[in-house]
Amino acid sequence: MNNWAYRPAWTQLALRKDLVGLEIGVAKATNAHFILSNLDIKKLYLIDPYFDQSDEFDNSGERPYAEGTKHPDAEEIARRILKNFEYKVKWLISTTEEIINKIPDESLDFCYIDGDHKYEAVKLDIKLCLLKVKVGGVLGGHDFCDDHKSVVKAVLESFNRNQLFCGNRDWWIIKK
Ligand SMILES: C[S@@+](CC[C@H](N)C(=O)[O-])C[C@H]1O[C@@H](n2cnc3c(N)ncnc32)[C@H](O)[C@@H]1O
Repeated sequence: MNNWAYRPAWTQLALRKDLVGLEIGVAKATNAHFILSNLDIKKLYLIDPYFDQSDEFDNSGERPYAEGTKHPDAEEIARRILKNFEYKVKWLISTTEEIINKIPDESLDFCYIDGDHKYEAVKLDIKLCLLKVKVGGVLGGHDFCDDHKSVVKAVLESFNRNQLFCGNRDWWIIKK
């Protein structure tokens, strides 16, 4: 399933034009395809290292990744699915930490975090993305839910409750 109700963070951007954004954690590009098909995107950066971490567990014993994201051909599938949008997509094949500085500070209308779901990784993604999003832009992510307590903890620690919106498994803030 992938639609406006499943990913409510995107409703914040539905009426904005010429968006420049970033998704961290692309996998088979289900969400990237949704973004490109439904929002007015000028440029979409996509960060994913595409290495196999399917056996990893975080400190709490949770799997840091959603089920089914470790398809061995994920990168190939993603590139095929996004073929018609190639001219708008800038692939950054590495971890967030290693590659996000290719993106200028304060240049993004949105950033959606759905990569490494471990606590420290989400905290770091939030810190790095805050530098890249413009004032008035949307910073959010996925898997804000009981199955991913590490994500919930990292998000709640990073923002005041009165800044934070959530719906379904999405969370987001508008950068002030
Ligand atoms: C839950 S999946 C992403 C699903 C995708 N956002 C969607 O909804 O269609 C998580 C992805 O994060 C990637 N990932 C893992 N560690 C990462 C890191 N340090 N930086 C960026 N992406 C990472 C994994 O390779 C995996 O493809």
